[in-house]
Amino acid sequence: MKILLINGPNLNLLGMRESEIYGNKSLKNVEKDLIDHATVNGSSLLTFQSNAEHEIIESIHNAIAQKIDFIVINPAAYTHTSIAIRDALLAVQIPFYEVHLSDIYSREDFRHFSYLSDIAEEVITGIGVKGYEEAITKGILKYRGK
Ligand code: DQA
Repeated sequence: MKILLINGPNLNLLGMRESEIYGNKSLKNVEKDLIDHATVNGSSLLTFQSNAEHEIIESIHNAIAQKIDFIVINPAAYTHTSIAIRDALLAVQIPFYEVHLSDIYSREDFRHFSYLSDIAEEVITGIGVKGYEEAITKGILKYRGK
């Protein structure tokens, strides 16, 4: 299976950014461990991070040509603002898991609403980087053989 992991704005600073909320591990190390996790489960994981909304949209579009089976996305702040990312995910019709490192529902009010949650396969929030691994495992179990 082919899985695409997309991380949105400011997640390139993982490990240095508000580490009390987002943890100490760098994005490179997180991605490396997730690639290993996918590999031992017989799958391949492609990773992408961007601070630019249009680049995230293009990576979602490119997932069709790349024959991606499902997407794991942490859209970061675009979660709460981006109708365009929602439309891109609807357009490609590739199932996706929405992941947040922190518990968005117990933070500021403006983080409680997501433009993606109602169309996501599942929302995994508040368990740190383990959330990515959980989404990958769930997706592999669900979409294997489909
Ligand atoms: C986040 C939560 C968002 O509200 C925030 O803007 C982020 C990260 C998370 O992973 O907890 O940048 O998506």
